[in-house]
Amino acid sequence: MQSRFFVIIDARGAFVFFSTSSHFSSHLHLNHQPLHQVKAEMWRFPDRTTEIGTMINAYLARSKELDDAAVHLLFSANRWEKRAELLRELSKGTTLVCDRYAFSGVAFTAAKQKTGMGFDWCRAPDQGLPAPDAVLYLDLAPAEAEKRGGFGEERYESREMLSSVREAFDEIAAFVDGRCTRWVRVDASGSVEEVGERVGAAARAAVEAAAQGGVPLRSLWDGSAGVVGWPLKEEEKKV
Ligand code: TMP
Ligand code: MG
Repeated sequence: MQSRFFVIIDARGAFVFFSTSSHFSSHLHLNHQPLHQVKAEMWRFPDRTTEIGTMINAYLARSKELDDAAVHLLFSANRWEKRAELLRELSKGTTLVCDRYAFSGVAFTAAKQKTGMGFDWCRAPDQGLPAPDAVLYLDLAPAEAEKRGGFGEERYESREMLSSVREAFDEIAAFVDGRCTRWVRVDASGSVEEVGERVGAAARAAVEAAAQGGVPLRSLWDGSAGVVGWPLKEEEKKV
């Protein structure tokens, strides 16, 4: 089974659709239905468990102030520090489903609209990381998002910020779709069951398209084969 890599961008406060165990040989389940008998793992960014992730968590929880540019680089560094492990899993044939990735990194920083920190600047630090086969973007109006549980607890969770983030995601979608990944917008309004149905259908289509393609791993952002450190050397696969 060829390994695949998918990213889900889940609006804050949306529901949880995946019930994957994080163990090897687990099966990818969607809406409690086995999607495919594939070895799959669920990942998320930021990974708040590392030292860099601890700093990011303090920033998001508003217990620490950080420079906007510095925190952008920390989010990116948090992906780079997981790169070797991510590539190792892919080389073993594990399918990765990841909650947020560099697309959120670009969207949230670009949404701050700081001089000199436009899209090119925001994309630069993630250049050379692996691109996912598909992005499932769960789109929800900020007015709807704020009605969902837990909204407003963390930094960025305001209607104004999420409106700006949503506009940034539209630009990112136009830039990346067909270049380094496939962008699939999923309407995240409605009940758990309704959204679950939509995500299920989109995910199934994405997995099937990726399984047919035999496309090699591509790089952020140009879709080239220039993924940093890929393919792995024999000794790197074992660690
Ligand atoms: P989450 O853990 O609930 O997905 O929240 C992570 C928050 O961090 C969310 O507001 C999006 C934001 N974010 C960035 O600003 N940059 C990034 O690179 C990533 C992955 C997330
Ligand atoms: Mg989330």
